[in-house]
Amino acid sequence: MPILALDQGTTSSRAVVFSDDLVPLASAQHEFPQHFPHSGWVEHDPEDLWSSTAATARAAIEKAGAPSIAAIGITNQRETTVVWDRRTGRAIHNAIVWQDRRTADTCARLKEAGHEPAVTEATGLLLDPYFSATKVAWILDHVDGAREAAAQGHLAFGTVDSFLVWRLTNGRAHVTDATNASRTMLYDIRRGAWSDELCALFDVPRAMLPEVRDSAADFGMTRADLFGREIPILGIAGDQQAATVGQACFRPGMIKATYGTGCFALLNTGDTAVQSRNRLLTTIAYQLDGKPTYALEGSIFVAGAVVQWLRDGLRLIRSAPEVAGLAARADHSQQVIMVPAFTGLGAPWWEPEARGAVFGLTRATGPAELARAALESVGFQTRDLTDAMRRDWPGLSESVLRVDGGMTASDPAMQALADILGAPVDRPTDPETTVRGAAWLAAWRAGLTDGPETALTEWKREARFEPHLDPATREARHARWTRAVRAVISMHG
Ligand code: G3P
Repeated sequence: MPILALDQGTTSSRAVVFSDDLVPLASAQHEFPQHFPHSGWVEHDPEDLWSSTAATARAAIEKAGAPSIAAIGITNQRETTVVWDRRTGRAIHNAIVWQDRRTADTCARLKEAGHEPAVTEATGLLLDPYFSATKVAWILDHVDGAREAAAQGHLAFGTVDSFLVWRLTNGRAHVTDATNASRTMLYDIRRGAWSDELCALFDVPRAMLPEVRDSAADFGMTRADLFGREIPILGIAGDQQAATVGQACFRPGMIKATYGTGCFALLNTGDTAVQSRNRLLTTIAYQLDGKPTYALEGSIFVAGAVVQWLRDGLRLIRSAPEVAGLAARADHSQQVIMVPAFTGLGAPWWEPEARGAVFGLTRATGPAELARAALESVGFQTRDLTDAMRRDWPGLSESVLRVDGGMTASDPAMQALADILGAPVDRPTDPETTVRGAAWLAAWRAGLTDGPETALTEWKREARFEPHLDPATREARHARWTRAVRAVISMHG
């Protein structure tokens, strides 16, 4: 019997029906509006998240002609925060999206007061508005009567997975999985429990938090009226963690990088929660049979977005796939470096105030050189992440990078990435790694598929890109990039 995987992302909701041996059969996708009430604020209407999820689920089931679904797996944009009233199931405020910076001052104050080391020790995260904790407190402090309603036990908090399960089960389950819990900044990733100390520090009532389960677990049954009968929800993971599962990165030392608007790279570190000395995050990659597997994570904010900028901002190309052809015409003697810090720099730099720059322009520089510099910036940023991972976890020396996401369809972009990394880049046969991860979790829990070892052997690569650049040139180019980043930081940081 087929599996339904739901991917509730930042800009769209998707649903994919997989056969029980995880071949995608049909899919549906709906975009929904983004709300930007102030500069740096990003919100979603939780009703949009719910209705687009329900509609795509129904559409995918219909397209697949598969009325009997064995189980549902959910994957979701992480950290995005929803607070709802348990009595009505309605959110009391728009969802505050992971990109939202409104709680930057709160984070800065807590940092100044010296709280960051203890927060990082417990959660593996940095004191940054990216995570859920300060967003929950903001909603409680800005919605009339919310603090009292929370004190009376009427309010529930959840990341998007949790809210969707509440709706799917008609309020019978208030649950999440360990990967999503690990992004809230309220969860102690080593003890595997919500932290009373962090709830007190961030002023979030403990009673609002969902129950945390494994990533493959019984999360509840859907309402019968939604899909014609009750269906068990058996898998949940945050989208980057689901991609790690979908890429079968089940062994310590394996890394995946997903290229969307930004890029998120996760390195499996097994049962060790490695504390980064290079400003990477420590997070839970997945939790199976009560056992967490940890990862080091690096996030960069601008990857595919730099190609969008060439298209929509500079109008150098008409469609994203044209970028590789344009870049191929670049004059290699020109050493143009682009630092696309449009919204600050993420890991390992974490410079929210930095802004972009282009270095090395001459009278001969044109669209081709800019396109090449843009593609290379994605490679250089990835290399900064893998270098930081290598410093934090020396076991990594041999690793291959498994890639997925829109940009990875381009062979020249992937070759440039391998050249800059000095390591092989593997592209899987199934590019739908995120939904595949969610489907795998549900299928495994349903007993339809074997465990991680089988997934490891069944994972197939469609192409491998070997590095061709000689090491001296590679290192010289990376050194130029590093100087450019430092210049950007000293200018705006
Ligand atoms: O941490 C944020 C991440 O989970 C968002 O992913 O693919 O929805 O942009 P995406």
